[in-house]
Amino acid sequence: MRIAVKVPGDKSITQRALILSSLARGASRLSGLLAGGDAESTAGALRALGAAIPPVPSDGSEITLAGVGLAGLRSPAEPLDLGNSGTGARLLTGVLAGSGLRATVTGDASLRARPMRRVTEPLALIGASFASLEEEGRLPLAIEGARPARSVDWTSRVASAQVKSAVLLGGLLGRVPVRLVEPRRSRDHTERMLRSMGADVRSGPARPGWLVELLDSPEQLEPLDLAVPGDPSSAAFLAALAVAGGAGRAEMVLPDIGLNPTRAGFFAVLLRMGARVSVDGRGSPHGRGSLGGGTELPSASETEKREPVGTVRARRSRLRGVEIGPEEVPGLIDELPLVAVLGAVAEGETVIRGARELRVKESDRIGALVHNLRALGAEVEEREDGLSVLGSDRVLRGRVRSFGDHRIAMAFAVLGMAPGNEVDIDDPRVASVSYPGFWRTLGRVATETRRR
Ligand code: S3P
Repeated sequence: MRIAVKVPGDKSITQRALILSSLARGASRLSGLLAGGDAESTAGALRALGAAIPPVPSDGSEITLAGVGLAGLRSPAEPLDLGNSGTGARLLTGVLAGSGLRATVTGDASLRARPMRRVTEPLALIGASFASLEEEGRLPLAIEGARPARSVDWTSRVASAQVKSAVLLGGLLGRVPVRLVEPRRSRDHTERMLRSMGADVRSGPARPGWLVELLDSPEQLEPLDLAVPGDPSSAAFLAALAVAGGAGRAEMVLPDIGLNPTRAGFFAVLLRMGARVSVDGRGSPHGRGSLGGGTELPSASETEKREPVGTVRARRSRLRGVEIGPEEVPGLIDELPLVAVLGAVAEGETVIRGARELRVKESDRIGALVHNLRALGAEVEEREDGLSVLGSDRVLRGRVRSFGDHRIAMAFAVLGMAPGNEVDIDDPRVASVSYPGFWRTLGRVATETRRR
């Protein structure tokens, strides 16, 4: 009794691969790219900047991407519309700032409501200037890049891989060294990819926080040869579905999932909740580490170049409530909506603290979770930096809102498939920015589960 699902390519890695291979000298080979909305937005913006990106295949097959080099992009004629992609908007702002290019960057209503000052402040240090065309500190933003004269030294107030990556890209394109401290370690895909392309990127504990340095900006980036792993954030929905009983007694098997230790926090939390989950990173060339409970994870090296990959397995489980504190948040920031909905079907209380960043994601995720959980009859308490949910075995029924947010829609779909529950979602289409085919996959799981 197994259901195997191949989840789409990692959204963070796909967008970085498109950006960095566009900037390489020579042809990169990329496979397993996400063909979802966010990746399309970033690919479209890069094309407008003069990058030669072929159509992104929807079946993950390989493409060859001819880079234009670090000095090969040009100012676009039209505004760059990044749609719903915060990663695309923030990282490309770094690229534009360090390249001395001019452009207007904008996005959809959700992206236009999200903070940009966290990237424009450090990028202004290299001489770039920014003008908000509507609300201060928000998109649309008119950017005038600069050829920086000095290195960047920045302490970020937020643990954000988008901020860190934007600043690294600003320094890389401007050919100046970067030193950045973040309050906690955020996902490190940019660092790994830059190292694999020949850049000297170092990282380590900063006490307090985490230090990342780009030393001696390289003259050119070597092309990438990369198979993008399955997105652990997408895999998390299917693991949660199985754990919550949405796949009956079947074992959910999720092969080729990215197991970067800066991203894998959700699976450790599932184990703490008592879930029958295993994460097997033994197939990766990166050695072993342990997630606890006999579960294998690759080790976290600070000079690592490649992305570890492995298989996640999950089955229906009795769950208990869990507490998540600030130190754990960056490693599962995008999975916190799932922790909250699983909390509603677990025994006891689930508490999330230190997660204020959730307020500025694709929606205010704390507000969205509280609204929707209440609409279904769950007991939930809102806090400025998180929430608490009291689990019960009551049936949860009702209509929820997606708030234009893919992860909110998918988290409530998972809750709706738990036995007995019925959840109606106002705008399911939003899932396609990170997980095209999500609803088809849920339909398949439901059919296979009924057949058994
Ligand atoms: C991302 C980083 C995270 C995450 C987002 C993708 C990235 O955002 O929530 O979905 O690709 O770098 P922050 O960097 O703002 O924490």
